[in-house]
Amino acid sequence: MNQPARRYLSSLAAAGVRRIPRGHSKGPAEAPAPEPGDAEAALTALAAEVRECTRCSLCKTRTQAVPGEGNPHPDIVFVGEGPGADEDRTGRPFVGRAGALLDDIITKGMKKQRADVYIANVVKCRPPENRAPTSEESEACRPFLERQLEILAPKAICVLGNTAAHLLLDNDLPMSRMRGQPFAWRQIPVVPTYHPAYLLRSPEAKRPAWEDIQRLMKVASSS
Ligand code: URA
Repeated sequence: MNQPARRYLSSLAAAGVRRIPRGHSKGPAEAPAPEPGDAEAALTALAAEVRECTRCSLCKTRTQAVPGEGNPHPDIVFVGEGPGADEDRTGRPFVGRAGALLDDIITKGMKKQRADVYIANVVKCRPPENRAPTSEESEACRPFLERQLEILAPKAICVLGNTAAHLLLDNDLPMSRMRGQPFAWRQIPVVPTYHPAYLLRSPEAKRPAWEDIQRLMKVASSS
């Protein structure tokens, strides 16, 4: 059995599905949406797996893993790079300075609550010294992110910064080339924008980032 099929079956199993109904055997891209309640259970099971994970050496230096949090039935999922010191300490994504800016984007810009969306990262454990994750670390963690996205089945995914964009879109373009272009991950629209930590260092990028967020809201409301 190939990898996507195995992942699909294990996400169904985590959601409590014991039998695949006839006509639903095509794989992750056409997976049936989980029943209400099942997504929450599947995410909880996945988070427990993440907390026990030893797939890469980041498990040796983490205080705790940061699986992700938010609405189990979100319209929008934000994907960042990886936990920093505050996230490693609390076990929650985007709670430091970059997180405060992401909160402002969600509440002041999008007029939503943080609990309306889901927030995840490429790697679930903090890379030492806040370095970017290596490609081996990102690849080791990819199945967790992909299973989260399969379970969440959002209307749109917003990738925050190059690490998340390159992993999900399988390219190595600079953000300036990706912004504004239509992308998809398994038929779910993906909107790339600058990482909030970059916006803190480069306030002139806030205006284009706001344009991206407006596009994100439009894409999510028309999907
Ligand atoms: N906090 C996170 O959870 N992810 C990032 O990418 C940056 C800060």
